[in-house]
Amino acid sequence: MDSKISQREQWTSKLGFILAAAGSAVGLGNLWGFAYRASQGGGAAFVLLYVLIVLIVCLPVFVAEMALGRNAMASTLLAPVKLAGKNWYPLGILFFIAPLGIASYYSVIMGWTADTLFHSLFFGLPKNLTEAETFFGSISSGSSVLLGHLLSLVLTAIIVSSGIKKGIEKVTRYFMPILFIIIVILAIWATSLSGAWEGYKTFLLKFDFNELRNPQTIRNAFTQAFFSLSLGIGIMVTYASYLNKKSNLPKLSVGVASLDTLVGLMAGFITFPIVLTFGLSDAISESTVGALFISIPTGLGSYGAAGRIVAVAFFALAYIAAITSSVSLLEVPVSSLMDKFGFKREKSVWLITLFLFLAGIPSALNLNILGTVDSIFGGVLLIFGGFLVTFFMGWVVPGKFNEELNDSKVGIKTTRYLKFMTRWIAPPIIGFGLFISVFDLMKS
Ligand code: PFF
Repeated sequence: MDSKISQREQWTSKLGFILAAAGSAVGLGNLWGFAYRASQGGGAAFVLLYVLIVLIVCLPVFVAEMALGRNAMASTLLAPVKLAGKNWYPLGILFFIAPLGIASYYSVIMGWTADTLFHSLFFGLPKNLTEAETFFGSISSGSSVLLGHLLSLVLTAIIVSSGIKKGIEKVTRYFMPILFIIIVILAIWATSLSGAWEGYKTFLLKFDFNELRNPQTIRNAFTQAFFSLSLGIGIMVTYASYLNKKSNLPKLSVGVASLDTLVGLMAGFITFPIVLTFGLSDAISESTVGALFISIPTGLGSYGAAGRIVAVAFFALAYIAAITSSVSLLEVPVSSLMDKFGFKREKSVWLITLFLFLAGIPSALNLNILGTVDSIFGGVLLIFGGFLVTFFMGWVVPGKFNEELNDSKVGIKTTRYLKFMTRWIAPPIIGFGLFISVFDLMKS
């Protein structure tokens, strides 16, 4: 088992890691989740909570996950056992199962995205909300949804089967710069819309203090922060296990978290102006799919040829963002099977892909099932994973955590700060977030 682990590939450079990790973080969650959760939480109150959670809670979780991966130099299934013994196998199992749960429906949403892109290119977009319902019905049901799910999984599998350097790193190196360019262009274009200012105001300035006490807003902010940064699920454990010992973990996590938050905010600067210009505020917050697949196509559909071009750019952007995330979701279980059973990469990739195709069928065929799987795997389980990983690194193996901070050469103040946050601040706050989230989930 150990011989397999010691043959691990490594990223070619720090930038390779940053782009891959940012590729995982920046995804449909930024474009689809951020906008609808922000509009449910009254805009600015949600954004404030979100940013606070990222700064206070998610950064320590990020560093803790990376420290776990780099110290163990093993995949998520085995890393906790390697550092603390057999009793911690359940944490490895949680980190094995959670990405499978998300990946199973993420590819379904990728399929809808591809289908919307296809429609924008070849057939045009809905012009009002009634047409939009029919449009969404056509992309989210029937055989096209299964085909989209399958093709997205196969594309992801092809990239992951090429390995870390030749697969994930290479793809993210090309895709991430393209993604940043498209999003900047779209955000600039959105300033020209008549509802742009209204959109920014709703997004960032309309502040309702009561929202800060609303369990749904608190749950949304925790869920969005963990989901968007790909935390609490073992992704960063796996990606950090391919890092060399010299990299500065806290600096890398700040870099990735900043890129992700920036993209989330920029996506808001695109979606909110569109939604307010075309009077679609209710549609965006109505459902998890409302933002991306109903409001945006409808808004752009009523904007003539220019709207269609923007739609093509927007959904291409969304698909690029999604593919660099789905490869990370697949890499976690794949590397775990490779470490645990000594399987070849290809064999692990195709076994898991087959499993994901089958496991995703219920979500592909039924929106309620997709919503429930998302709330559990893409919500409370991530928050729970974040709680466990800070507890683990802060209290169970603090010496190993220290080692990684020392190797990162971050200086005594940062080391002390991170140790304090990981032990005393992050676990209770995440525990609180988890409690509220479970409570709110049961209620809904
Ligand atoms: N962070 C990705 C997004 O925002 O779409 C989704 C994701 C990828 C979530 C990987 C969790 C994860 F482990």
